[in-house]
Amino acid sequence: IKLFADGANLQDMISVYKEGTADGFTTNPSLMKQAGVKDYKLFAKEVLAVIADAPVSFEVFSDDFSMMEKEATILANLARNVYVKIPITNTKGESSIPLIKKLSMQGYHLNVTAIFTLDQVQSVVDALNPKAASIVSVFAGRIADTGVDTRTLMKQAVEICHGKSNVELLWASCREFYNIIEAEEVGCDIITVQNSILAKSQNYGKDLKEYSLETVQSFYKDASGLGFS
Ligand code: E4P
Repeated sequence: IKLFADGANLQDMISVYKEGTADGFTTNPSLMKQAGVKDYKLFAKEVLAVIADAPVSFEVFSDDFSMMEKEATILANLARNVYVKIPITNTKGESSIPLIKKLSMQGYHLNVTAIFTLDQVQSVVDALNPKAASIVSVFAGRIADTGVDTRTLMKQAVEICHGKSNVELLWASCREFYNIIEAEEVGCDIITVQNSILAKSQNYGKDLKEYSLETVQSFYKDASGLGFS
């Protein structure tokens, strides 16, 4: 499985790139807002000046399909390693499929985002041009929040995506370190992970009895400053 870094903090992206721990990068408007990005184009250019040989996904900002098309063209022309993120619908719930079909036929690398259902996966896969490498981002973590069995859904999404060449299924909205193992087991091509979750890899393979003891010790340490009366 390929491991992508999910985030929009320029310094973090650059250091992850330099460490060589990520195979690619994903951003989104919420992550950019969180990171305090002020000028989107400038940010994208700064990222691409350093990260020139790994896929980087940048999302369109507009809600209007003709504006999305213009933004997609601008983003795609910034560098060859750009994947343009197109949400599966606009905010009114109108389908982006006609635009996806058009952009993909023009050879743009797309990352179709905010996908939650298998019907959406199927319609995107049908719309994509097999000659243009594309990513299908299914929001596993948000789906799990609704009580749906993510593993089964992602397994079915793998089958749909692998029915077409040049389509990679990405496990988006990763919530815990174990999702990396799950994503690999069900056959996803990519998982994108925020730094905070990646940091948990320090616990990977740790002895559970030892971890239990460390947990008790940290509770005890924190309790020492609290009163008990
Ligand atoms: C990936 O490309 C997505 O933007 C990201 O994983 C979204 O995850 P969230 O549910 O944490 O917002």
